[in-house]
This record gives sequence, C-alpha cells and structure tokens, in this order.
Amino acid sequence: MKKRKLIIDCDPGVDDAVMLALAAAHQEQLEIMGIITVSGNQDIEKVSRNARDLSEFFGMKAPVARGMDRPIVRKPLYAPETHGEDGIGGCVLPAAQKTEIRENGILFMRKLLEEMQPEEKASIVATGPLTNIALLLRMFPETAERIREIVFMGGSLSGGNVTDAAEFNFYEDPEAAKIVLHSGVPLVMCGLDVTEKCTLTRKQILKMCQWGSPAAKLCGDMLGYCLENSSEKYRGEVSVHDAVPVLYLLHPEIFEGGHKILDVDCSEGTARGAVLGGFRWWKNETEETNVYVLTDADKKKFQEYLITSLYELAQ
Ligand code: BDR
Ligand code: CA
Repeated sequence: MKKRKLIIDCDPGVDDAVMLALAAAHQEQLEIMGIITVSGNQDIEKVSRNARDLSEFFGMKAPVARGMDRPIVRKPLYAPETHGEDGIGGCVLPAAQKTEIRENGILFMRKLLEEMQPEEKASIVATGPLTNIALLLRMFPETAERIREIVFMGGSLSGGNVTDAAEFNFYEDPEAAKIVLHSGVPLVMCGLDVTEKCTLTRKQILKMCQWGSPAAKLCGDMLGYCLENSSEKYRGEVSVHDAVPVLYLLHPEIFEGGHKILDVDCSEGTARGAVLGGFRWWKNETEETNVYVLTDADKKKFQEYLITSLYELAQ
C-alpha cells in the first residue's frame, strides 16, 4: 500500500506528544515528511525541544523545523496549567541526537511540498495554533495545490475551553484560523465537539504506566499530569484532543461529521476566537461549504485504536 505523505505542525504539549506517538506507531501507513513547531502550549524554544526529543524517543526519523514564535497579531499565551512549565507535564526524556533543521519551519514546509513529484499531494495534521500554515498559504499561495487536506485540531461549535466562546488553538491565533478557513484548501476540523468525546480514563492511563516500556510510561505519566490538573469538567478522564486528527486519517469510519460554512471571530471582544456559523443548515446545502467538521466519534473504538497503537509502539 502506498504511504500517505504527511506533514505535522504541532506545539507539544502533552496531547501533541501522544499524537506524535500515535503517528510513530503507524509509520508503515504514514510517511512523516517533517515536523514543524509553532508557539502555543509553551514558547517556541520549549515546544521545539519537545518535538525533537519526543519524535526521536518514539522512533521517528522525520526532521524537525522551528516555525513561528508568536501568533500573527497578538502576544503569545501559553498553557502551563494544563501542560506544565516544560510543556510535557514535568516528564524527563533523553535529549535528542537529532538537531533542528536550520531553515525556518514555514520555508521548510514549502520545500517539502514543492519537492514532491508533480502528481503527489501531502496531508497536513495541525495540532497547534494555525500560524505557520496561514503564513505559508499567504506567502506561497501556490503551495495550496500540493496539500491534499489540512486536518486540524481547533475551534468548537459548542463553547470553548479558554473562554466561554473559544477553544485554545483558535483563541491563540484567530487571524491565522481565518486565513486557513478561507484558503480553499480541503479542511477537516477536529474541534472540541468531537475531541472532548475522545478521552482516556484514569484506569486506562494507569495501566499504560504499567506496561513496562519507556514509551508507554512516558505517555501514561504525561496524561496523568493532565488528569491531576484538569478541572472537574472532565470527571476523571482526559481528552486526547490532538490524537483525533491522526486517528481520523487512519480510521475515518469511527467519526461522524458534516460539511459546513464556518468563520472565526477576530474581534477584540468576548467572542474572540469563537467559530461562527454552521447552524443555518440550509446554507450548507445551497452554498459552497469550506470545512468538514467532525461532530461525533465512537469513543470505545477511539480508545481501542489509540491504546493498541501505543501498545504496539511500546513493544
Ligand atoms: C488544544 O489546546 C492545546 O492545549 C492542546 O494541545 C490542544 O491542541 C485543545 O484545545
Ligand atoms: Ca496542541
């Protein structure tokens, strides 16, 4: 079977880290061309170091390049309360041998896309603010044709997690989200509507720590950190938001969704970062939609596929 070409744009981040482990476990199906980092859960220095250390630890040879160190308009905001000061819940892992690509992440992404054979296209999985991808599409609009689809974790049709209205990745850089939403590139949105249903339980996380492999223990410890620091809302479970885009590429049949016309609020008001639209269903039937939005998942299957993948990686 021909491998799917994949570029990962991320801000690790505990759930980004689990996403990397999941992708690493499926390198027979996924050709991971490169990993680009973006300021988000922590500053660009920390997330870039995490991306190098984690990808090497999980056995991925993919090169890592550093993208934008801030959102397009506003100052960066980090999420230490969820991911810890180091972005990976205080977990320690060996420093990677691999060094970072010296080229800026946006230019590197362009190079990866342009160096493919003319008939080839790559998918992009984005699990941080959409800053790098928005700037890529603005600076080099011709690259849009080389992108099969962008599957991103971000946004929500059902309330936010940073503010009442906005999800973290969209709140962090709504201007970037707006550029991507209007880019014309095929988009799949994995927002809180679906990712909050994609959880692991305390018991599953504890078990993972007992498998006896360093990779499993690392994932278990990081998720355990989130579990201890998450609010009552999650009732003893952790949403593994960023694993959803990769699992969608591997197992689209476990998700439900619909085509919608969406926009994002870029005002300075209380709705900054909120997803707009999607409710007037008749519009989606008569006008051209811009996003396929995941709205539901088979939670049991999500858990089964994620746990099995991490288990296989650990062996
Ligand atoms: C998103 O915000 C980040 O903290 C997570 O890594 C995920 O990408 C969830 O809202
Ligand atoms: Ca993330």
